[in-house]
Amino acid sequence: MENIVILDCGSQFTQLIARRIRELGVHSEILPWDADAARIRTSRPVGVVISGGPQSVTDPDAPNIDDSVFSLGVPVLGICYGMQLMTRRFGGFVESGSSREYGRMRIGMTGTQSRLTEGLPDSFEVWMSHGDHIGRLPDAFDLLAETERRVPAVMMDERRRLYGLQFHPEVAHTQHGTELLSNFLFRICGCKGDWDLGNWVEGMIREISSTVGDGRVLCALSGGVDSTVAAVLTSKAVGDRLECVFVDNGLLRLREAESVLEGYGRLDLNVRFSDASDRFLSALEGVADPERKRKIIGETFIRVFEAEAASVEGAGWLLQGTLYPDIIESGHKGKSASVIKSHHNVGGLPEKMNFRVLEPLRDLFKDEVRKIGALLGVPEAILTRKPFPGPGLAVRCLGEITPERLEVLRKADAICTEELSRWEGYASVWQAFCVLLPVRTVGVMGDSRTYSEAAVLRAVESADGMTADWVRIPYDYLDRIARRICNEVPGINRVALDITSKPPATIEWE
Ligand code: XMP
Repeated sequence: MENIVILDCGSQFTQLIARRIRELGVHSEILPWDADAARIRTSRPVGVVISGGPQSVTDPDAPNIDDSVFSLGVPVLGICYGMQLMTRRFGGFVESGSSREYGRMRIGMTGTQSRLTEGLPDSFEVWMSHGDHIGRLPDAFDLLAETERRVPAVMMDERRRLYGLQFHPEVAHTQHGTELLSNFLFRICGCKGDWDLGNWVEGMIREISSTVGDGRVLCALSGGVDSTVAAVLTSKAVGDRLECVFVDNGLLRLREAESVLEGYGRLDLNVRFSDASDRFLSALEGVADPERKRKIIGETFIRVFEAEAASVEGAGWLLQGTLYPDIIESGHKGKSASVIKSHHNVGGLPEKMNFRVLEPLRDLFKDEVRKIGALLGVPEAILTRKPFPGPGLAVRCLGEITPERLEVLRKADAICTEELSRWEGYASVWQAFCVLLPVRTVGVMGDSRTYSEAAVLRAVESADGMTADWVRIPYDYLDRIARRICNEVPGINRVALDITSKPPATIEWE
């Protein structure tokens, strides 16, 4: 398989570079900036990209890549910080701070021909984000393009197949960014572009088969995209030696357990339903502190899952829907420190239970998982499902959780979803839901006074859940949601709208 290695110097766009390359049909892999040549060789790259980064190459502890990367015999493309590292390495000069360029800039070609810029117009707009810039190119390099302020924007040493871009070809604001990446892949690295998810699926099914042998696999399904796609894929390899468990923790939304099970029913999966609602709700009784709620839910989940696992004889493997962004090792700061997101819901299971972990999706991005899901026949409703937190309604039912308050929240939340799903903008909403506050306010209904709790509507748009902005839902929809909740849900007499972004707020209220 053709592979491009991306050395991550800490840019917020590193994952985007990887995705763009994959979209062009070439597999890409992100390694920390301090990966040495031996590590890089094991990935057998046909080209290397050095990413951007937030630091200045002139800082003594800024990331600096291993010199031997330039002797691997494959083309190297430095982007922004990567270009500056290359410049210093080959004897050029990087100026710090004096000419900051952020945002949209126009660059013009110098007229020197190259395979990197083949087919591009003489001048176009790119997206810059740098405080440092190249003051003098290394001797062997040619200047291919510069900004209006004469800052070098594109350079190359064609003989050694080294290329540098001062701007970000991976972001949508850069015109012709895809052509630049495509020229690097196809004209310079000689890629064929045969990375294809259909082939990947076949290869992965074979791999799971040979890894698991005749063992049994256990999987905790959540109803979401990742665990479902992982399970369907694995079932193609091991058939009914895959045992799935779907736990109802009593904190699911209105009719959610039924609809998830119905979806699984159509997928030919071996799913056992574990209704542990009572166990979770009694463990949560009287608890209002958000962290304690989460801890109790996590621990109860482990206990319920352990009990289920004990009844599956000989299960030696635990299947998890870990994705690439969850495991990417990143070179930020503490050198090769690897940043691993802990799994909210099944974290702690493997260590405690002596399972070997199977993570077939660990190499994929979310959109690739959705495409694979579609290839495997996973219903659209599951593939487009919006994220729902593992601790469920517990983190949206503020204060003490009681079955009655959960019921009130479920009804309000269902109205919110029902109304918003009629709105054309709903597809691009990341999450929209109701929060129930442990705050009672005075109202009037008919001729009588009410004194009931307040609900808050939270709707956000986001690319990855890390940052988010509140969604400008049209007033008519807000109006209908508020009216219906107050009319149809006894227990709520007031609806407020959350207009805070993340940061400073988080998406969930707890
Ligand atoms: P916050 O509230 O931290 O949420 O801004 C970011 C995203 O993560 C989801 N979330 C969770 N998902 N288990 C999960 O599976 C959890 O414990 C959890 N907490 C938050 C949240 O819904 C949002 O999409």
